[in-house]
Amino acid sequence: MNVSKDAYSLAAEAAAALKDLTGVDSFDVALVLGSGWGPAADALGRTISEHRVTDLPGFAAPAVAGHTGTIRAVETESGRKALVLMGRTHLYEGRGVEPVVHGVRTALAAGAHTVVLTNAAGGLRPEVQNVGDPVLISDHINLTGANPITGATFVDLTEVYSRRLRDLAREADPSLAEGVYVAFRGPTYETPAEIRMVRTLGADIVGMSTVLEAITAREGGAEVLGISLVTNPGAGLVGVPLNHEEVLAVGRATASRMGVLLAKVVNKL
Ligand code: 6GU
Repeated sequence: MNVSKDAYSLAAEAAAALKDLTGVDSFDVALVLGSGWGPAADALGRTISEHRVTDLPGFAAPAVAGHTGTIRAVETESGRKALVLMGRTHLYEGRGVEPVVHGVRTALAAGAHTVVLTNAAGGLRPEVQNVGDPVLISDHINLTGANPITGATFVDLTEVYSRRLRDLAREADPSLAEGVYVAFRGPTYETPAEIRMVRTLGADIVGMSTVLEAITAREGGAEVLGISLVTNPGAGLVGVPLNHEEVLAVGRATASRMGVLLAKVVNKL
């Protein structure tokens, strides 16, 4: 049996455990709330139940400040069942790619056909991006060096981030900008030279997550919406050093706006 086969059965086990814990037979949508997005969770709807991710097979305890490591079943105003993953595992934690995408694989196994991925990101166009702005991810550049899919499985990535869902999100907030997200492995932030490189390559926002989860969701046939919260400009663009505390503070300051945005989007699904 190959490694990825094991990963899919572990996700099926986690989905079965989730069904037992939540009493929800099937979820419509999954949301991964990244750094800075946790405070937005309460806006999504009525909490059915909340659990520590470590109560489910295959999930690792969160290693990053600002990630609670809980999973919540929510009923939205529109009656949809949402699975809210509050926190994620990152590639830079060194556990490999399987734990990074286990949450999305579990959500797919639990029925979700729509996956909303959120993150905090550095802005590469400070002249048009303000700190605290959400940006819709239109496409990505995967510079993590990793891929969740192994073997000769040639998944089409022409439209990883659904145009239909981006249009829906813009109906909720017409001021939303779009951009190409580039992912590095981290955990260091980029050097100014790396930031100049990825600007030249066509990236608009930079982070350390999301791309592997998006690939996993597409492999499973789900529709993906990605939203970055710009928490700071990329290194060297304005000359101040970056820190994670600032990223979290921007999330706290914008929580209600992000919550309203996510709730509107989820209720349009
Ligand atoms: Cl500037 N870079 C990366 N890789 N991740 C970030 C970031 C920058 N700002 C927030 N997250």
